[in-house]
Amino acid sequence: MSQEKAKLTIGGETYEFDILTGSVGPAVIDIRSLYAKTGMFTYDPGFTSTAACDSTITYIDGDKGELLYRGYSIDQLAQDSHYLEVCFLLLYGHLPSKKELTDFTNRITNHTMLHEQMHYLYRGFRRDAHPMAIVCGVVGAMAAFYHDSTDITDPEQREVASVRMIAKIPTIAANAYKYSIGQPFVYPRNDLSYAGNFLHMCFSVPTENYEVNPIIERAMDRIFTLHADHEQNASTSTVRLSGSSDANPFACIAAGVACLWGPAHGGANEAALNMLREIGTPDRIPEFVARAKDKNDPFRLMGFGHRVYKSYDPRAQVMQDTAKEVLDLLGVENNPTLQVARALEKVALEDEYFVSRKLYPNVDFYSGIILDAIGFPTSMFTAIFSLARTVGWISQWKEMIADPQKKIGRPRQLYQGEVRRDYVLLENR
Ligand code: SDX
Repeated sequence: MSQEKAKLTIGGETYEFDILTGSVGPAVIDIRSLYAKTGMFTYDPGFTSTAACDSTITYIDGDKGELLYRGYSIDQLAQDSHYLEVCFLLLYGHLPSKKELTDFTNRITNHTMLHEQMHYLYRGFRRDAHPMAIVCGVVGAMAAFYHDSTDITDPEQREVASVRMIAKIPTIAANAYKYSIGQPFVYPRNDLSYAGNFLHMCFSVPTENYEVNPIIERAMDRIFTLHADHEQNASTSTVRLSGSSDANPFACIAAGVACLWGPAHGGANEAALNMLREIGTPDRIPEFVARAKDKNDPFRLMGFGHRVYKSYDPRAQVMQDTAKEVLDLLGVENNPTLQVARALEKVALEDEYFVSRKLYPNVDFYSGIILDAIGFPTSMFTAIFSLARTVGWISQWKEMIADPQKKIGRPRQLYQGEVRRDYVLLENR
């Protein structure tokens, strides 16, 4: 806590509030006593200036374009680590020893199958259902199959639910893809890596052998790492708010999936690729940039801008490099979509409208190009984002549940509606 106090003067009376400081980043004014002292609320729709919790998991410096998972920078982790090690780091706060990593990997690997009866859930959906609708429904239904890990007061059950969630989300997402294309589900294999298993469950068919391409496997794993966690974003805040009511972990993750689906959030990767395809060629970029700047046009450059990053999203840089690597490997020379993306980025970053608003490419701008090159339909992009973000949601949920200060989240409002008035009988209206 800082020695200095924050002072607020209202109606000639001055109120003091503690200033709390973290290990790095902005300090906070502790306003928990504000309403009791002043009878007033703060007003912050969209939470642009609100810290909703303490956390030790992920730190973002939006001005520097820095992203740290438990203190380790995203570019180093994307380069030198791999997703399951990042999962361990996010969950337990330290890089695992060899034995810890082996044990954790085995635990995850041995929980990748779904309860066989869960396969019937998929048959209730239309074949053309969006994979995110399926993933959201099946994740929520996990509470009906894994009821023995829903007691949130039991640390062991919280641990089991966490492992099950991380282990099974690739199988759930892959099944949603297979169901949408009318192919049989493919069971996970314990001899494959986490990313390799996902590729296998998505792209192998019973009629022939499927070999995981190691470069694609590495790119997939890196995409998972880049999306693993991101502080108190909308979907993570949804998971926390859901968890604050002591809802079971599967219900909380399903809520996070639902929130991430929005095109302003995780749905932007699907929208960004669709936008790049609609632009089609670099000569149409000015038309779309003009629309993005037009206040009367709801169109925005998808994959651009960020609430926190007011500089280049560090994940977008790694994603751009990975896109080139994958496209080169696949021999997709001069991929038109990548060409449009690079040209659009150049135009936007030289345009006063974007520069003055500090709008840069975010994680969603290039990811779709890689996923498209690997062979995923755009409808699977956000399901893959959900898959990767599950460890972040679960880590943040566990941190909140274990927090002795945990309280149910219950924001207030500035009421602008009718004041009290008497009911008028129908015959008198
Ligand atoms: C993710 O929070 C996270 O960490 C999320 C995420 C994660 O990992 O969890 O990083 C993942 O969701 C990334 C963001 C993906 N969404 C998009 O790419 C959709 C397009 N971008 C936006 O809609 C927007 O930039 C947001 C939603 C991302 C951020 O919105 P903010 O912070 O509320 O900013 P704003 O809407 O108030 O915009 C500020 C100004 C406005 O103009 P003015 O009113 O000042 O004139 O910038 C403009 C906006 O109109 N603006 C854009 C724009 N983004 C903002 N104009 C055109 N195109 C855009 N993309």
